[in-house]
Amino acid sequence: MELQILPLTGQKPRVTDESKLVFGKQFTDRMFIMEFDRPKGWHSARIAPYAPFSLDPAALVLHYAQEIFEGLKAFRRPDGSIALFRPMDNIQRFNRSARRMCMPEVDEAFFFKALKELIRLEADWVPHSEGTSLYIRPTMIATEPVLGVKPADQYFCYIILSPVGAYYKGGLNPVKIWISDEYIRVAPGGTGEAKTGGNYAASLYASTEAGAQGYDQVLWLDAVHRKYVEEVGSMNICFLYDGKVVTSPLKGTILDGITRRSILTLIREMGLEIEERALSVDEILEGAENGRLQEAFGTGTAAVVSPVGQFTYRNRTVSLSNGRIGELTQKLYDTLTGIQYGRIPDSHGWIEMI
Ligand code: COI
Repeated sequence: MELQILPLTGQKPRVTDESKLVFGKQFTDRMFIMEFDRPKGWHSARIAPYAPFSLDPAALVLHYAQEIFEGLKAFRRPDGSIALFRPMDNIQRFNRSARRMCMPEVDEAFFFKALKELIRLEADWVPHSEGTSLYIRPTMIATEPVLGVKPADQYFCYIILSPVGAYYKGGLNPVKIWISDEYIRVAPGGTGEAKTGGNYAASLYASTEAGAQGYDQVLWLDAVHRKYVEEVGSMNICFLYDGKVVTSPLKGTILDGITRRSILTLIREMGLEIEERALSVDEILEGAENGRLQEAFGTGTAAVVSPVGQFTYRNRTVSLSNGRIGELTQKLYDTLTGIQYGRIPDSHGWIEMI
């Protein structure tokens, strides 16, 4: 398929003070978009000025939420070059989500080429300061105007870019997490592993309640026993427990996080043992009190490696690492961001230069 590059029609105002960058509120001048019609397939691929598009009010995505997305980042190196972190892993996961949501897959090589071309054109939007990056949001939505519940015959697939700072307002300050015993995110057999908007929409009620009580995020327990840790709103979660790293196994109900995957590799290389098993809420509460649980941290593209300082379950609150970032969490944050920003050589083939 040919990739058309349309001329820019104007430039957006931008945040010039990078210390004021927040997560996902500012977007760059251009976007990538392509369209799908059955039986024609994908067509009209173009890089165009960033602009609203018009959708029929009956578009399927607006009614039955047939939608998927991805999140990856481009990092500015000290020499001015731009590095992408594991982009093909994101593109492959995009296609896995597409299959789960009965949406058409994209041609991975073409999509990667279009993504790189878009970033090349928008290179001056990649911020320079430590802790900032260009967040890349590939998205696919069902556009066919029909009210019957069925997989659409028409789609838009697009990529937008946003220069970002830290996901959490407090940066690397430990987050406070509320463990929900009332609400669940997904059940086995559901769409938990797909990166689809509905999973996030379903999480809003509990996270709003948690936010009102001063918590940063909700930790979801499994839907069957309401006992075992699954994941946190916008990240996977790991625990340093009895000197081993424990994290929920990939069994269809949690996101197969690319940062999770990378962090587990780094942990293995540090010589620590990993247990991918169901950790219970009792183990968290008792472990924090008797010292067996030493650290907890979330992992995600947006969240990077985020220390957890406190958990609350029902009326019980426990603290970790005296409310400070733990030693292992800091080391993992430094190693991962070191590879991303080029301070540490990439011995894993995770980096793709633009
Ligand atoms: C990401 O980490 O890229 C995500 O997609 C999480 C998002 C919901 C902020």
